Amino acid sequence: MSGFFRQRRTLLDTALAMNRLGLNQGMAGNVSVRTGDGFLITPSAMAYEKCAPVDMVRVAMDGRPQGRHRPSSEWRLHRDIYLGHPEAGAVLHAHPPWCTVLACLEREIPAFHYMVAVAGGDSIPLAGYATFGSAELSALVGQALAHRSACLMAHHGMVCFAAGPEEVLALALEVENLARAYGRALQVGEVPLLTGEQMAEVTARFAAYRQPGPLPEQNNGT
Ligand code: 13P
Repeated sequence: MSGFFRQRRTLLDTALAMNRLGLNQGMAGNVSVRTGDGFLITPSAMAYEKCAPVDMVRVAMDGRPQGRHRPSSEWRLHRDIYLGHPEAGAVLHAHPPWCTVLACLEREIPAFHYMVAVAGGDSIPLAGYATFGSAELSALVGQALAHRSACLMAHHGMVCFAAGPEEVLALALEVENLARAYGRALQVGEVPLLTGEQMAEVTARFAAYRQPGPLPEQNNGT
């Protein structure tokens, strides 16, 4: 299988999985993967089930598209994430049901559960509203993602990035799980939060958790 086909197949499979897993519906959302000198992104306003790998669009870092279709209207958002985060190998933007509920209420996901640290800090922040596909929206998301790998987008949805397509899907699923739990907890009443100290401990443990080998405290006497 050629590299050209394989990368496009992987991208399309990721977009299909995003919808199949309930993270997104219909033609909303978009996914991209970094390539050597740019990225491949899903085409704009096309149903993923009707796409073939060749329909994925290549975009250079200066924004020049190359392909038989228009790139996603959010290509700039994806491009700016790649420029701002050298560790990003894949970007996923979706309208997951519970993330969207919170985003429409203009709420972030605070430290109500320790797994909030999965996005790199003690909250999953909310980026302000701007029209889809605009440079303004990309700038607002850029601010929210300054120290995080996922954020909600007011009156819109969610965006996250990770090392690659598998990792970005896993992160998106976790963020949606958190949004669901927080959304349901809010329906009961006020939701107690973990303290800054508790979250700092989780964030430090997360860094070690991701490294191969035993966790630091497991080194003692074992
Ligand atoms: P595209 O079809 O252009 O990717 O747009 C979908 C979307 O969700 C815009 O925010």
